[in-house]
Amino acid sequence: MDLLNDWPEPIVPVQSLAESGTSVLPDRYVKPPSERPSVDPAADRGEHISIPVIDFAGLTKGMAEWRATMRLVSDACREWGFFQVVNHGVSVDLVARMRKVWRDFFDLPMEEKRKLANSPKTYEGYGSRVGVEKGATLDWGDYFFLHLLPPSIKDYNKWPSLPTSCREVTEEYCQELVKLCETVMKVLSTGLGLDAGFLQKAFGGEDVGACMRVNFYPRCPQPDLALGLSAHSDPGGLTVLLADDHVKGLQVRRGNAWVTVQPVPNAFIVNIGDQIQVLSNANYKSVEHRVITNATEERLSVALFYNPRSDLPLGPARELVTEERLQLYQPMTFSEYRLYIRKKGLQGKAQVESLKATN
Ligand code: OGA
Ligand code: NI
Repeated sequence: MDLLNDWPEPIVPVQSLAESGTSVLPDRYVKPPSERPSVDPAADRGEHISIPVIDFAGLTKGMAEWRATMRLVSDACREWGFFQVVNHGVSVDLVARMRKVWRDFFDLPMEEKRKLANSPKTYEGYGSRVGVEKGATLDWGDYFFLHLLPPSIKDYNKWPSLPTSCREVTEEYCQELVKLCETVMKVLSTGLGLDAGFLQKAFGGEDVGACMRVNFYPRCPQPDLALGLSAHSDPGGLTVLLADDHVKGLQVRRGNAWVTVQPVPNAFIVNIGDQIQVLSNANYKSVEHRVITNATEERLSVALFYNPRSDLPLGPARELVTEERLQLYQPMTFSEYRLYIRKKGLQGKAQVESLKATN
């Protein structure tokens, strides 16, 4: 697809704009009023409602506790599409090393990072926008995107060679996170009343995909006019996000409001992507989320996307289509599905809506 060969306009890393010390947000980043961050109404009333926090220690304590934990996950995915997980088994030290190598990467001189500049063809590398629509309003964030699975598309040459431990730490981190995703997939399958292996099998068994996006949100001169990442739902299967412990930024849609996620130390934020919404026939929700910026602190997050094999047409599980709940979506392969976001950028939930079965 020619359209995806290159960006429609020269890329300006947000970090370089932030470092220029401007006190005025450049026009390209000014969101229309309806998209600008508003005060979180609940937080404003002093009610710190947030997404559920679930302790995965319950998964290692016998059947009754396993099922109780499964119910918490299932409820969270039906109601919020999001939860935070603690006692997930990933070592604190590995998480700290992962944060450090990626902070160090974004601290490298711009010439070094730009050697790995990405194109919209695969998105792999250092980038500053999603979508190729000329003149689009941009988000106040840079990122690094890389492929992990299947092994045939993993290409270390496209990963940073600096800092020197970046590849090794990233590899180790991703292996641990993939194991966590496999566990979550079993819990999610059981929570739908299906076999524990159901979702894994539907994703292609051993042939699943995985990729990673490290987001870097520089300080923003006018946080009330910008977004770090526009509202979107994640197109893939499951996302596990490592966010900063001390800087808030992620907001999750709850009806007409945006609820700010309160970071919990040593937790991951897990959310359902569009492919699991489709497979579960909308029992589990892939919920819109966005990132707000702030004027005083940089923020780093690492999103691991666990995806179905790209060439399998995915539609709602037959077991979840009933007379009361008809088949909501038409099947599509993930490679076809993700072209939409790669061209149009982040568009809330418009894409999954477009799969609605017309019968
Ligand atoms: C994403 C995402 C949230 C964040 O990368 O898809 O939603 O807090 N990131 O960076
Ligand atoms: Ni997301």
